[in-house]
Amino acid sequence: MTQERCIPSHVAIIMDGNGRWAQQRSQLRAIGHRAGLKTVRKIVAYAAELKVKVLTLYAFSSENWKRPSSEVSALISLFIYALNREVKSLNKNNVRLNIIGDISRFSDHLQNMIIHAQNLTKHNSGLVLNIAANYGGRWDILQSAKKITMQVTDGKITLDDITEDRFSSTMCMSEFPEVDLVIRTGGEYRISNFLLWQIAYSELYFTNTLWPDFNQTLFDEAIDAFNARERRFGGIHNKEHSC
Ligand code: IPE
Ligand code: IPE
Ligand code: MG
Repeated sequence: MTQERCIPSHVAIIMDGNGRWAQQRSQLRAIGHRAGLKTVRKIVAYAAELKVKVLTLYAFSSENWKRPSSEVSALISLFIYALNREVKSLNKNNVRLNIIGDISRFSDHLQNMIIHAQNLTKHNSGLVLNIAANYGGRWDILQSAKKITMQVTDGKITLDDITEDRFSSTMCMSEFPEVDLVIRTGGEYRISNFLLWQIAYSELYFTNTLWPDFNQTLFDEAIDAFNARERRFGGIHNKEHSC
């Protein structure tokens, strides 16, 4: 199966379970997030090796601000640390880094780092790595609706021009292939305001493994499960399984 299997073009991952991983070891939740960053490194490298075109990682949701401020600070510090440390090597490995989410809530320093990282890597032709930071699926739909409304009020388009395709074009990640596979680690069976519009026909895969314990073998298992699915997109049984 491994040789013939088709590799999804776009994989999105809800990286859940860092806190529980740490708590199981009587450690601070921040230690779990650090362990989670190690998994990110491994999975990014493996996704690039497999020739996944786009990998989208949910790093911080628009609701994660509800956590104690010490944990929010630890997560933001880790994000800054990771950007500082990883961007050069991502660039060397031809990875294009893209941050999705409402970055205006971050400090000017972090916003500048994000802009710099995106500019540095924007011409890379390898893996596209989207990091969802202060991202919410509902926020994404709203920001798209606002852009479209502006186009109408500016007289550039009329109401009848608002098709699904046009709406999609102002959603995050519109320039990339559709999300084929969503993986959620950590044993919860929910979307937690991750991609909403974009996952209308994605395959969903849930695993109990906590994110710091996720690895290449488990990623392979998710891809094998994806290969065993029959995607019908509302049509009928189709034996031709194309990627
Ligand atoms: C996911 O791990 C990482 C973020 C949400 C930033 P959690 O911190 O949610 O870990 P659990 O779900 O509490 O174990
Ligand atoms: C989803 O995990 C967000 C990220 C992985 C960044 P949460 O831990 O925030 O989700 P809930 O609260 O269990 O739904
Ligand atoms: Mg969680």
